[in-house]
Formats: sequence, structure tokens, C-alpha cells
Amino acid sequence: MDHPTVAILGAGSLGEIFARGLLRAGWAPDDLVLVTRRAERASDLQKETAISSITSLAAGAEGREVVIISVKPNDTSTVVSQIRECLTPDQVVVCLAAGVELATLESALPGQPIIRAMPNTPSAVDLGMTALAAGTSASNAHIARARVVLGAVGETIELSEDLLDAVTAVSGTGPAYVFLLAEALIEAAIREGLPHHAAEKLVYQTIRGSGELLFQSDKSAFRLRGQVTSPGGTTAAAMHVLEEGGFRALMEDAVQSAANRSRELGKRAIDT
Ligand SMILES: NC(=O)c1ccc[n+]([C@@H]2O[C@H](COP(=O)([O-])OP(=O)(O)OC[C@H]3O[C@@H](n4cnc5c(N)ncnc54)[C@H](OP(=O)(O)O)[C@@H]3O)[C@@H](O)[C@H]2O)c1
Repeated sequence: MDHPTVAILGAGSLGEIFARGLLRAGWAPDDLVLVTRRAERASDLQKETAISSITSLAAGAEGREVVIISVKPNDTSTVVSQIRECLTPDQVVVCLAAGVELATLESALPGQPIIRAMPNTPSAVDLGMTALAAGTSASNAHIARARVVLGAVGETIELSEDLLDAVTAVSGTGPAYVFLLAEALIEAAIREGLPHHAAEKLVYQTIRGSGELLFQSDKSAFRLRGQVTSPGGTTAAAMHVLEEGGFRALMEDAVQSAANRSRELGKRAIDT
């Protein structure tokens, strides 16, 4: 499939990541349009990316094969109300706003093919993970078109919508868990006497290498961890402290809290 034309409504941090990713993946600037709230932001983006950047949501959405809504959940209703009149049934709307349900979007945009998607920020380096769920008016061709766009910056997976709040809490929020781990590990390394630059290098490359090993290996995380844990050894000592301190329970609570917050934000996001 070639490059469908794309409008990104709300070119904030995620919108910009997608815009730059689509350019890297071979989209021409003319295939894209960015819509921002502030004219100054539009002008900066246009200078940096050569993509036409404007402040009119309706003009941005008009005629584009894929219309990505990338505003905060609370701003979704404004965007939907401003593009409602200019959409046609052959356009696919892809909403990235955490927690905003398909049923809510579909009641605001009746008959429109809609995809709800949850990407993450490693899309900035083409290693994103985007889960998506399709609305009732989206055909296989619409879904495929949305996946071409979302997949330009990483992997995609189609799931049932009831799992997307969990996805938000796992892969959407996931990079923050890894970054917090990196921060904590760097601080711990410095406390053990390592210079800051060495601590950073050790931690970044360890996280990168472990991720790649997990990805490439046919072994589970559990088995890979077993390989570096000998009885009575250093890793066993560290794992004992983490288990005793409730690491797993804490992780479960964090994910549950993020999933609940996603549901809450979604409920408040749009009032049709
Ligand atoms: N960041 C992530 O990791 C991530 C991951 C998955 C999903 N999401 C979802 O993606 C969405 C965007 O997140 P983000 O982190 O990119 O937020 P963000 O940086 O705040 O970007 C949202 C952008 O939308 C703009 N905007 C708001 N109302 C607008 C309007 N009426 N017309 C045009 N532009 C408008 C905002 O402009 P102003 O700057 O003027 O307010 C802002 O630049 C959120 O719904 C979030 O739930 C984010």
C-alpha cells in the first residue's frame, strides 16, 4: 500500500513524533498536514519539517485519507465538533487520546470509520508499539490503511477495545517505567562510586541490550533472568531485595492505577 494522505490534528509531542516518523518512512511533506492551536507553533513546525501547518481543524481534516486526532482527551470533543461537517465516509479517523471510547466517538461522528489507537513514545526512533481497536464502520481496508500509517513508526497490534485501557497502562505508559528504572539505577550506580558518565553509559546500554535480547530471544523474561542468576550469587542477592520490597506488587498497582486513570479520563473527555 502506498502512502495515504494524513492530517495530524494536535501536533504536540506525540503528533510531532508521528509527523517526523512519517517523513522518515517516505511520506512527502505534501502528503501531510499538521494542525496546531497556536499559529506560532504551526509556523515553527512548518519551518522545521516543510509540512503545511495550519490552525484550522476543519481545513486540516478535509479530504485527508487518515485523520489523526492527537490532542489531550479533554480537548477531543472540541476537535470532533469542528471536523464533523467536513468529513466524508471514505476517511478514517484515528483517535490517539487515552481513554476516549469508540462508542463516544461514533455517537459524535455517526457512520464514520474510526480507529482508536494507543501508541508510545519510542515511535520517535521507529520502535513504537501501537495497539488499535476498530469501530463498527471501519472495514478491513480502513483498518489496513490506519495500520500503514501507525506502523510507519513501529509495530501495531489489533485488540478488542476493552483491552485498550490496559494497553495504555502497559505500553503507553511503559516507557516511563523504564526511564524511572534508568534514573534509579544511575543514582544507585553513583552511590556505589561510579562516575556519572560511566553510570549513564552502563545503564543505557544495559537497558538497550536487555530489550534487544528479550526481543530476539525465544526465551521468556523469566528464563533470561534465570540465566544471569546463580544460586547464592550477586543477582540472587539483588532479586531477593526486590522481591522482599514488593517490586512485583508495586508494578501491578502502578499498572492498575494507570489503567483506572485512563478509564476515568475517557469518561470525562467527550460530551456528545
Ligand atoms: N505522549 C504519549 O506518550 C502518548 C502515548 C499514547 C497516547 N497519547 C495520547 O496522545 C494525545 C496527545 O498527547 P501528547 O503527549 O502529544 O500531548 P500534547 O503534547 O499536549 O499535544 C496535544 C497538542 O494538541 C494541541 N491542541 C489542543 N487543542 C487543539 C485544537 N483545538 N486545535 C489544534 N490543536 C490543539 C495542543 O496545543 P497547545 O500546545 O496549544 O495546548 C498540543 O500541542 C493525548 O490524548 C494522549 O492521551 C500520548
